[in-house]
Amino acid sequence: MSFSESLLSLRLSIDYRSKPDVLRNLALQMRRGEILGLVGQSGSGKSTLALAILRLLGLRGGVSRGEIRFQGRDLMSLSEREMRELRGRQIGLVLQSPLSSLNPALRIGTQLAEAWRAHANGNREDCTRSILAALKSVSLPEGERFLRRSPSQVSVGQAQRVLIAMATLHRPPLLIADEPTSALDTITQAEVLRLFASLNRELGMAILYISHDLLSVASLCHRIAILHEGEIVECGETQQIFAQPTHPYTCQLIEALPRNPFESPDRGNTPGQQAMETTDVPAHVPAGKSQQ
Ligand SMILES: Nc1ncnc2c1ncn2[C@@H]1O[C@H](COP(=O)(O)OP(=O)(O)O)[C@@H](O)[C@H]1O
Ligand SMILES: [Mg+2]
Repeated sequence: MSFSESLLSLRLSIDYRSKPDVLRNLALQMRRGEILGLVGQSGSGKSTLALAILRLLGLRGGVSRGEIRFQGRDLMSLSEREMRELRGRQIGLVLQSPLSSLNPALRIGTQLAEAWRAHANGNREDCTRSILAALKSVSLPEGERFLRRSPSQVSVGQAQRVLIAMATLHRPPLLIADEPTSALDTITQAEVLRLFASLNRELGMAILYISHDLLSVASLCHRIAILHEGEIVECGETQQIFAQPTHPYTCQLIEALPRNPFESPDRGNTPGQQAMETTDVPAHVPAGKSQQ
């Protein structure tokens, strides 16, 4: 990967006091505008990595060593004040449980306005305009009426859209989505996956999409990184991972799927098309990106 293409490049080791070596010299790279899927079983260290990139691991009592380069800057050497400026503005974060991520006591509009003011100066009209545009980009078009609702008056799927709007309000070049569909039913899951694909396509936003579900990852991501026992054991183009998995754990993951999204006995073998027809969401097929 050339320097100009690189958005994020990291090499990290992470320990918790009671659990050392959660991640062991883990290396990962992301290009601008790509969707990278990070797949690993529960407890493999996915959330640990997400928090470490945002330098929030201290909240959990974790310690990280190594290097995180983001847009040419070394995040490990930034001050906490510089990191606060970067979080939300340069790197957005969406978590698994939408309702518990929203403040139940505040209206949706108030929470979005707070997120806007954290990184922008402007009057009330500027703020409202940005928020309404953000709601529209996540297909919550009801506008001002919706903003007056409290979190208890929206569905889980709507709450997740609000959080995605919040995380993308400042159009960050990188969005980290940590199991963002785990709390959603399958139809809402598919809608949210489509939303990520359109945010990526329309805003050019890179997404680190974290999930234990290889099938949803396959339908959305340009590349996939497989996390196993604290290391990335395999990383490559989505179609290549399915066609030629090299690590035994990846083979196990693929064999455990009810179907291979890139294989169909009674159709021609056009992998992207296969994904579009066989998975629950329209495939966001990578356009000629080469392997790192
Ligand atoms: N605050 C903590 N203290 C000690 N161990 C932790 C802490 N948080 C997570 N762990 C452990 O680190 C490992 C990775 O956790 P996590 O990153 O949450 O995994 P994942 O997101 O892949 O499910 C797990 O074994 C978990 O039990
Ligand atoms: Mg997790």
